[in-house]
Amino acid sequence: MGFCCYVAVVILFPLFLSIAFWNITRVEIEAEIPYFNDKDFFFVSLESSTNRSSQFLLNLATAKSSFPQFSQRVRDGSNLEYDFYRDTCPEAEAIVRSAIARVYFDHREVAPALLRLFFHDCFIQGCDASVLLDDNDGDKNRSSEKQAIPNQTLRGFDKIDMIKEEVEQTCPGVVSCADILALATRDAVLLAGGPFYPVLTGRRDSHQSFFEEATNQIPRPDSNVTHTLHLFSLRGFNERETVSLLGGHNIGKIGCDFIQTRLYNFEGTGQPDPSIPPDFLLQMKLNCPENKNTSTNDFSEFIVSKRVSSSHSDFGMSYMQALSSSVSSGAAFDTHYYKSLLRGKGLLFADQQLMAEERTARLVSAYASDDGSTFRMDFARVMLKMSNLDVLTGLEGQVRLNCSLPVSS
Ligand SMILES: *[C@@H]1O[C@H](CO)[C@@H](O)[C@H](O)[C@H]1NC(C)=O
Ligand SMILES: *[C@@H]1O[C@H](CO)[C@@H](O)[C@H](O)[C@H]1NC(C)=O
Ligand SMILES: *[C@@H]1O[C@H](CO)[C@@H](O)[C@H](O)[C@H]1NC(C)=O
Ligand SMILES: *[C@@H]1O[C@H](CO)[C@@H](O)[C@H](O)[C@H]1NC(C)=O
Ligand SMILES: *[C@@H]1O[C@H](CO)[C@@H](O)[C@H](O)[C@H]1NC(C)=O
Ligand SMILES: *[C@@H]1O[C@H](CO)[C@@H](O)[C@H](O)[C@H]1NC(C)=O
Ligand SMILES: *[C@@H]1O[C@H](CO)[C@@H](O)[C@H](O)[C@H]1NC(C)=O
Repeated sequence: MGFCCYVAVVILFPLFLSIAFWNITRVEIEAEIPYFNDKDFFFVSLESSTNRSSQFLLNLATAKSSFPQFSQRVRDGSNLEYDFYRDTCPEAEAIVRSAIARVYFDHREVAPALLRLFFHDCFIQGCDASVLLDDNDGDKNRSSEKQAIPNQTLRGFDKIDMIKEEVEQTCPGVVSCADILALATRDAVLLAGGPFYPVLTGRRDSHQSFFEEATNQIPRPDSNVTHTLHLFSLRGFNERETVSLLGGHNIGKIGCDFIQTRLYNFEGTGQPDPSIPPDFLLQMKLNCPENKNTSTNDFSEFIVSKRVSSSHSDFGMSYMQALSSSVSSGAAFDTHYYKSLLRGKGLLFADQQLMAEERTARLVSAYASDDGSTFRMDFARVMLKMSNLDVLTGLEGQVRLNCSLPVSS
């Protein structure tokens, strides 16, 4: 199949699949929940608003009221349902939404932070807020995900704690941390210019954290494409979903710690990754000077202690920066991630590896080749799918009172 045909297929694909997709995720709600795409008034007016905070809240309210079916009881295969808290805590979603809007306007980085946090949570034993648990053994025994994945890469715990506290004041012991994280992530992605997707609720929180899984099953920044696709497939994501999910790197910075080895000691050679274009290598090195202290032995920082020197971990580079020298930067949640990869300007080795295999490279080209609507539609879908991964519902798990601590039975 030639490239042009492939592009046509990719563009038409969502139309063909708009019903079939729901089968894949076992969601039986296609008739009830309309899919929002970026052509929606909902998103467009958000973009053009001067006071994005109030406009955001207004638009969400309008979107909800103009789709009455949204308030109907809908369930999917995961036993989550739309507006699960409508009787027990009707204010829950609004509290999350306004808290995130407040945080966002002072801390834009909350959007990529929550996206990452949520991704890590869902990838390890499902979206059960296990990533939020503190090590209950003090600092001596590294048994929590929070420690396994150091918070040089994960932030936003404090924001979730803050929202949880607000929700607890209104409805004590009702709304799970897992739902708060799922909702807060969606709202933050939307504020950052990402697409809207409906978040079903009713998740319960886990009793425990999963250290071993955290270190072994999270895709690594130095993974080759085969390995990345394999790890995503273990969670049920196909190639297309994997490529669209990695598009989350459109926003936020990639920490220098994840780039260092590529720049200064690629695969133990003491040299940079030869596939980085020379001018881009220079640009990357300027943003991420060599840190002699960084252990170059293969991302052992994945399992270092959670106390991380803040000085270094704040350094990083964004995909907007990667492309800005050659392309004027538009909205943040668009195709610039994929355009960067097409030019060999991937920041992580794992990102650039998407170009190393034909199947994934074609998807990258396809996403880069339109105004971003194909990517945004796919991203919304894959986020919805990820939000429902292996959730605990009903009587499983618990509802934590403090997201850092399990409730002892
Ligand atoms: C998809 O779901 C519909 C309705 O639930 C069903 O009729 C159809 O056979 C399913 N298709 C596949 C491929 O599973
Ligand atoms: C935006 O709207 C919110 C809510 O109406 C208001 O509290 C805030 O002061 C406004 N911000 C600006 C910059 O006008
Ligand atoms: C850490 O906790 C695990 C599981 O609770 C236990 O098996 C292990 O022995 C502990 N390690 C240390 C060093 O205490
Ligand atoms: C890391 O997490 C701990 C709580 O587990 C928090 O106190 C600390 O501020 C975090 N550090 C950073 C740099 O986010
Ligand atoms: C990709 O990475 C995996 C795991 O690290 C390794 O086993 C495999 O040989 C690598 N494949 C290629 C083509 O380099
Ligand atoms: C390297 O680590 C040492 C000791 O941990 C510290 O004193 C020094 O400031 C670090 N250097 C850099 C460049 O981070
Ligand atoms: C939640 O638990 C953490 C860890 O024990 C503690 O530091 C924090 O103050 C608690 N938060 C609330 C609101 O009680």
